[in-house]
Amino acid sequence: MSKEPLVPRESGNVGAAPRPIESITPPLILEALKGGVLGQDDALRFVSVAIYKHTTGKVPGNILLIGNSGTGKTTIMNNIQRLYDETPEYVPFRAMALINANLLVDSDRMEFRPERLLAAVEQRARSVIGHPPTAAELKETMERATICVDEIDKMSSILAGKPNAIGVALQQGILTLMEGERIPIKTHVMVEGADTPATLEIDTKGMMFICGGAFEGLYDQVFSRVTNPGSGESLRSVAVRNADGQVTIEVRFSLADYFKIEDLFTYGMVPQFIARLDNTVLLADLGVESLKQILLSAYDSPFVRSRRYLAVMGIDLEIEDLAASIVSEQAEKHSRTGARALRTIFSKIINPIEFDPWSNGALEAGDNGRQRLVVTAAMVRRALGLG
Ligand SMILES: Nc1ncnc2c1ncn2[C@@H]1O[C@H](COP(=O)(O)OP(=O)(O)O)[C@@H](O)[C@H]1O
Ligand SMILES: [Mg+2]
Repeated sequence: MSKEPLVPRESGNVGAAPRPIESITPPLILEALKGGVLGQDDALRFVSVAIYKHTTGKVPGNILLIGNSGTGKTTIMNNIQRLYDETPEYVPFRAMALINANLLVDSDRMEFRPERLLAAVEQRARSVIGHPPTAAELKETMERATICVDEIDKMSSILAGKPNAIGVALQQGILTLMEGERIPIKTHVMVEGADTPATLEIDTKGMMFICGGAFEGLYDQVFSRVTNPGSGESLRSVAVRNADGQVTIEVRFSLADYFKIEDLFTYGMVPQFIARLDNTVLLADLGVESLKQILLSAYDSPFVRSRRYLAVMGIDLEIEDLAASIVSEQAEKHSRTGARALRTIFSKIINPIEFDPWSNGALEAGDNGRQRLVVTAAMVRRALGLG
């Protein structure tokens, strides 16, 4: 397997011959996705295989991503788009729509509205094609789309213990799309050089679907199922080594160990809908190490963003290793918001610096006439009011 990066970061390879699409293998796709999504390699392996199948014309295998808030569900979807956009061979697959589930239903009329999804796909398809398309061009590009439906759990068929008809309508609607449906769209296309109104039938059979949701309450639901005396299951114990090297036996509950597909039915997902998803993937909760990696290197981490921002002023932003560890430890304490907590915490440190980097006394002379600003552990402790 080639060691070349999948995504050429710079334009150095302009004119390079495109690779056969089959040679962009799941491990190469995984490498590219890992540039923007950290600590979720298991989930990304499923996604990589699905993308490989989709781009090589096989049935892609639709995916459901389940993960707590801030673990990277929306980030995964955005990075699939980035992969398509940055990989020249993926031009035919760039029509992608990322839409929140609630926008696909009309709650007054209790109806599924697939045309909203197709409108988003059409808009992307037109911009990918880049010129007024013919019917064939538009149809072909749209029929290869990747559809990401976010916040799918908000469309459960049970809400606060009551039946939720709109959720059922949505799940059945998406189910039909996944099975392959022909949906007429009213549009306009080029016919003999003239832009002409037309109705196209878009077949959804070849589209790839990725759904995501936090499924709040699923954790507690499964925990009580497992710990229910009549369940026949019991919590497993694990050996845990603490920072001093001592080993203790602890009983720990992790959703991944006990989760069954049937738990989603209890939660309120329609069994036929779940059956159309080939893989249900649980995202990991992000530990301190993953959070630190995200802070230091994810594309839209708050530190990386501030570094880009300060570079405009001729200032190179750096962060001490210990400072990054403290920020990540503090973020992990806010486990309900996952990696989102990095932003909340880091902004307390960086906001005054972004406003006025010159007068806080931390600027040093750097290379080539530039200046350097290092975020130190002391600065972090001070900003966060820690000891
Ligand atoms: N696994 C991850 N890798 C990189 N960044 C992440 C990851 N998880 C979350 N983030 C960052 O945290 C923020 C929220 O993540 P998001 O993907 O929107 O979470 P959610 O799982 O709730 O959809 C984003 O700014 C994103 O950059
Ligand atoms: Mg999200």
